[in-house]
Amino acid sequence: MAASIRRLWVGVDWGTHSSKWWYTAEIASGKQIQPKALPSVVDSTIYRSGDDLQVGRERARIKRDLADARLKRLLLKDPQGASYWDAIRDGIGISLGEAALLTRGYLLGDVASHVAAENLELAPSTEVHARFSLPNWIDSDSEHVAARKRMYQTTVICAGLIRLLGWEHLPAIGTKVNLSEWRDVVGRVRSMPDVQQILGRSPNDFAEMVEGTNSIGGISWRLVAESSAAGYVPLCQLLRDVPRSSKTQKHWVKLLVVDVGAGYTDTGYLVSSRKVGDSELLMNYLPPARTLDYAGEQLTEMLRDFYLREHNRDLSVEEAETMKLTAPDKWNGQQFVRDWRERIAKSVADYIFHVPDEARLGEPAIDGLKIVLTGGSGLVPALDDAVKAAVIDSLGRRGVPGNVASRTEIVKIRPRIASDPIDAARRAVSTGSAQSDFAALAYRESFVKAMRTVVAKKGWV
Ligand SMILES: Nc1ncnc2c1ncn2[C@@H]1O[C@H](COP(=O)(O)OP(=O)(O)OP(=O)(O)O)[C@@H](O)[C@H]1O
Ligand SMILES: [Mg+2]
Repeated sequence: MAASIRRLWVGVDWGTHSSKWWYTAEIASGKQIQPKALPSVVDSTIYRSGDDLQVGRERARIKRDLADARLKRLLLKDPQGASYWDAIRDGIGISLGEAALLTRGYLLGDVASHVAAENLELAPSTEVHARFSLPNWIDSDSEHVAARKRMYQTTVICAGLIRLLGWEHLPAIGTKVNLSEWRDVVGRVRSMPDVQQILGRSPNDFAEMVEGTNSIGGISWRLVAESSAAGYVPLCQLLRDVPRSSKTQKHWVKLLVVDVGAGYTDTGYLVSSRKVGDSELLMNYLPPARTLDYAGEQLTEMLRDFYLREHNRDLSVEEAETMKLTAPDKWNGQQFVRDWRERIAKSVADYIFHVPDEARLGEPAIDGLKIVLTGGSGLVPALDDAVKAAVIDSLGRRGVPGNVASRTEIVKIRPRIASDPIDAARRAVSTGSAQSDFAALAYRESFVKAMRTVVAKKGWV
């Protein structure tokens, strides 16, 4: 008999190229279960054939009349433009909002199938905590404001969708969805009174957005900054290596996370500590860097330019992408790759120069800054060294003592399941946000010196 799930924490990461999920399921005995074997990640492209739409796994061959790819980019573009929910896209015949929701619907449908295959049961009584990835769209300019709002609305309607259809009727990978039926379902969800009510409460700024939680029925959900989700498991793993009885300073871990995906680089900074004489861990993250519109896609374009220039070969994007993944020796030593690494490293260095931590970054009594790189492009050879060198230089310019800055080190993510490191790096956002204790990681505007003196009486917090 299937074991009924009491509580489920599910991380949903909608990426520019691919989308990922992860979960932690708690059964009646209190035991927590995470996926063991996972199917490959889901392609973020929407395919249309006749009046049917489909979402498939990465590199699956799908018969189609047309494909609509890289939709995540469009949330950010054209903030004053066409209606997110009502303007129909010519190709796929549904709106951008309906398309963003469709990919999430398939992802959650995939979670439901996986859970069932693991002989677990999602019952109506299951308490669900969903976490949806939010790129570091932190600013108050119109692009970020509009993109955040669109993302927020998508998550509200996604929760309503689970409520309306139930897990078992969400779209399953490998099946088709009729486009009129999808529009009809989305319309029904949008007119649900509790959905409308929550839609009207759109958070104003980034902090409100990542701090807020909403719920409909037994489903509660929130948005999580991509960089903080990506850093959560590495931070926990670093802390696991520190015995509880160690000096308080040992629990003060400073972690810089750089998630380099296909479309964007998202950088953030996490700090942990443990109160003196207390076993409670405190985990915080500070305002992350503004998302950088520069990542794997630019490297692919640079590779194409290089082949055209040096070998007079006009590679298609697909050919260049395949060469990037399968033949690193053909490109890795080239100047354009050094330029690519430098551009990302510089953006990380600029962030650490300004990150609002006046209390801990330069503290000689604690371990040096750790850096972890995640995302599919985060493991491009030597990117870690370039980032580390730029960060050490930046810390020096900021006035951090040399013997503190030089203790900066790269840490490798340890995959939770047997998988290749790139697969684990790509899943970092979903893995982190699906941990049952992820909510312990709190947003904080800054660490200032004065604050440390005040709280020092109670311990290092
Ligand atoms: N072995 C590899 N070498 C170089 N690049 C790689 C490798 N494997 C994957 N990539 C790149 O990683 C990117 C995909 O990573 P990921 O799945 O993290 O992106 P995403 O989540 O879809 O994008 P984003 O987070 O920017 O929205 C692609 O640009 C791909 O070319
Ligand atoms: Mg990503």
